[in-house]
Amino acid sequence: MNVYDSQRIQNMLEGRGYEKTDGIKDADVIIFNTCSVREKATNKVFSALGRARKENGFATLGMVGCVARETDKDAFRRIPGLNFVLGPQSYHKLPLVLENPDAKHLYVDLSGLEKFDELPTMTSSELVAYIPIQEGCSHCCTYCIVPFTRGPEISRPFDDCLDDAKLAVGQGAAEICFLGQNVNGYKYNLAALIREVAKLSGVRRIRYTSSYPTEMTEELIELHGAEPKLLPFLNLPLQSGSPNILSAMNRPYDIEEYLGIIKKLRTHRPDIQISSDFIVGFPGETPADFEMTCKIAREVGFINSYSFKYSKRPRTAAAIMPDQIPEAVKKERLAILDDIINENMRSFNKSCIGKTFDCMLEREEKSGNLIYRTPYMQQVIVKGPSNEFCKIKITDGNKCSLRGEICQ
Ligand code: 5AD
Ligand code: SF4
Repeated sequence: MNVYDSQRIQNMLEGRGYEKTDGIKDADVIIFNTCSVREKATNKVFSALGRARKENGFATLGMVGCVARETDKDAFRRIPGLNFVLGPQSYHKLPLVLENPDAKHLYVDLSGLEKFDELPTMTSSELVAYIPIQEGCSHCCTYCIVPFTRGPEISRPFDDCLDDAKLAVGQGAAEICFLGQNVNGYKYNLAALIREVAKLSGVRRIRYTSSYPTEMTEELIELHGAEPKLLPFLNLPLQSGSPNILSAMNRPYDIEEYLGIIKKLRTHRPDIQISSDFIVGFPGETPADFEMTCKIAREVGFINSYSFKYSKRPRTAAAIMPDQIPEAVKKERLAILDDIINENMRSFNKSCIGKTFDCMLEREEKSGNLIYRTPYMQQVIVKGPSNEFCKIKITDGNKCSLRGEICQ
């Protein structure tokens, strides 16, 4: 979601004659687009803002995104040289800021879908197009700040999302990634949207992120078997393998239900690979609770995960729960879980050696190596020649990336 927001901001500035620069000293405008899901990033952004102001005393300096909304006007007190603070639903106001760059600007309201109407038409030459189909989240997991920073869940109209996909495809995009905090809860039917977008001949790959387990409809599960353009890879965050912790997190599903969804997905699309998000060290998490998480991580064989130590966030219910877990224990548990997931990934990567996949070019490295993505979103490193799409035979599989050869 932040990558998408940054692309829109960059696009808006380029439309007004700005160019990207690598050096902070050369910049006329410096913008930090921020995430407040965990505390560490919030702290880091304030030191980075302070450093940027020291390095460049003249540029218009601002903060955009969830930390902007979280800290509100207090951001001006913390960084006196800051010019603007724009929340994740207010960054379309940037032109107002640039008209009067030396003033202090604060726009952190939840304006819902307003930004989508106000932003200039997106232009992009990227192969992957991120299309948000939803803003905010109404799930209210007890650890999560998102419902406060991005507000309650609102779905964008079906035709607006379809038009965005058509526009992106017209500009050369071939992979469509639908975005939302609760993307499969999209009010106007994600499965129907995927089916429509799959009809566009320029579209080769479709994926969506991030999903909530109990919002996986039968229709969407079946589509994974019926629609070849839908990638056989899904991020389905479980967060914990312990029923007690899931209940304290206010994630009202049980493990059997989750496993049932995975089983159905595998029935329809036997090669589908699953990734998850996990939080370790949630308040009250006992060694036995954590062991349940490890057990399920092995059993499901998640090939990837965004696993994090629990981080206390302001205004969330979990922040004031008793039995907060010491940092050292969280660190230890995270390392154990990471090892399990890495082992799953290694063994899946190994099983790919000798197989051939349709891959899409992601980027070219300075070394001349090309980085592709398999249908399971693994990175494959190959030596040229560079085609945007090609069949790649996997020759080697280590921990996080594969190596391969382009099949002529
Ligand atoms: N502490 C740690 N991780 C968190 N996440 C959300 N809030 C917190 C928090 N307070 C993680 C969840 C979510 C992902 C986007 O970030 O795992 O799925
Ligand atoms: Fe946060 Fe995701 Fe829970 Fe929504 S579903 S409250 S975004 S963790």
